[in-house]
Amino acid sequence: MLTQEENELLTGVGPETPGGQLLRRYWFPVAVTQQLNDQSTAFVRLLGEDLVLFKDKSGRVGLLADHCSHRGASLLYGRVEERGISCAYHGWLYDCEGNILETPPERNDAIMNSVKQTAYPVKQFIGMYWAYLGPAPAPEIPHLDVWVRKDGKRHLFLHPTMDCNWMQAQENSLDPTHAPILHQDAVNRKYLPLDSTRGFIDDMTGFEFTETYYGIMKDEIFGPDYVEQHPIMFPNVLRVHAGTEIRVPVDDTHTRIFEVYFDLDPDGALHDDDELELPVETGAPYKEPAGALHPFARMIMDKVPQQDQAMWETQGPRYDRSTEHLAYSDRGVSMLRKMIFDNIVKVQEGGDPKAVFRDPDHPMIDTGLTHAATHRKPLGRATRTYEVATGKTMPAGFTR
Ligand code: FES
Ligand SMILES: [Fe+2]
Repeated sequence: MLTQEENELLTGVGPETPGGQLLRRYWFPVAVTQQLNDQSTAFVRLLGEDLVLFKDKSGRVGLLADHCSHRGASLLYGRVEERGISCAYHGWLYDCEGNILETPPERNDAIMNSVKQTAYPVKQFIGMYWAYLGPAPAPEIPHLDVWVRKDGKRHLFLHPTMDCNWMQAQENSLDPTHAPILHQDAVNRKYLPLDSTRGFIDDMTGFEFTETYYGIMKDEIFGPDYVEQHPIMFPNVLRVHAGTEIRVPVDDTHTRIFEVYFDLDPDGALHDDDELELPVETGAPYKEPAGALHPFARMIMDKVPQQDQAMWETQGPRYDRSTEHLAYSDRGVSMLRKMIFDNIVKVQEGGDPKAVFRDPDHPMIDTGLTHAATHRKPLGRATRTYEVATGKTMPAGFTR
């Protein structure tokens, strides 16, 4: 349980908040490459700030505050030109650094020399535009193995925007016991549990969390012969098998998930595409009506991501942890929270928080992805027991 003050500290993402200051030490994906191929501007809300991403006619990409410095119209409707973006209202022209180049109808040097549109750096990397909203100099995008390895191919999956705070998604990364229970009847399960209260939890004989230099390694133990590892890169990334979810805090009550799939080449062949554009799949809404909040929306509960989103959103738009009751099995959640609090202090003391990499040539962060790690675990005790105990053929939809 946290106090309300601690809860606000943990979940705040805005520029004036300690949590927001911590998050402003990392790069976040904000759009896929194709978005700026199809249109010249894209609206971005990131860490509570409203921004416009654009590509000018010289091919430069900029990220500027949404509201024009003149009289506040949105630059989303600006015209992209050779030298930048021109506000649709009166034509003030901005370059990618936020400098004002023109102020029609006059040329107002006083304004051009003293006013600057808020502007942030953008990088294009593995099929996405990434933004950095923190103090200069910007660090590197970490060389996470599944983002930089060449012995496979990547593709992207965009989950629908979630109507809840990013920490509800990220706490789930440190919550191994939910999966065999919440996801016991997801459509890709082939078996039914004997006991729907316990689901498949008795297949998991243990779980452990180990701090690493990049974050936390979660070990899920299934008997003496099988351990499944899920690395968490601090603060907002989770890998499960070939899929790496990047949880992007939109504002205090919304989160986007960009998922990067890295499929190892079965022959170990290298793929040296520049990857500025990747295949992208966009998920259909996980609830009906799509934009409504619990309890006015009904979650679609048939697949794993939908089941997760239902749990995170029904905790509330910004879950109040002063009313929770943590159990011993929630110790991974506590570990993540402590790591957030410790790193907020680090930032306040002027240091770099965990998993900020400044060397452009820093070694690859090896999270141990192998062909074996991309495969599902063997049947556990609780799974096998169904057939032994019932002597029944599996029901339709659950056949081997
Ligand atoms: S409001 Fe943008 S130029 Fe006037
Ligand atoms: Fe889950």
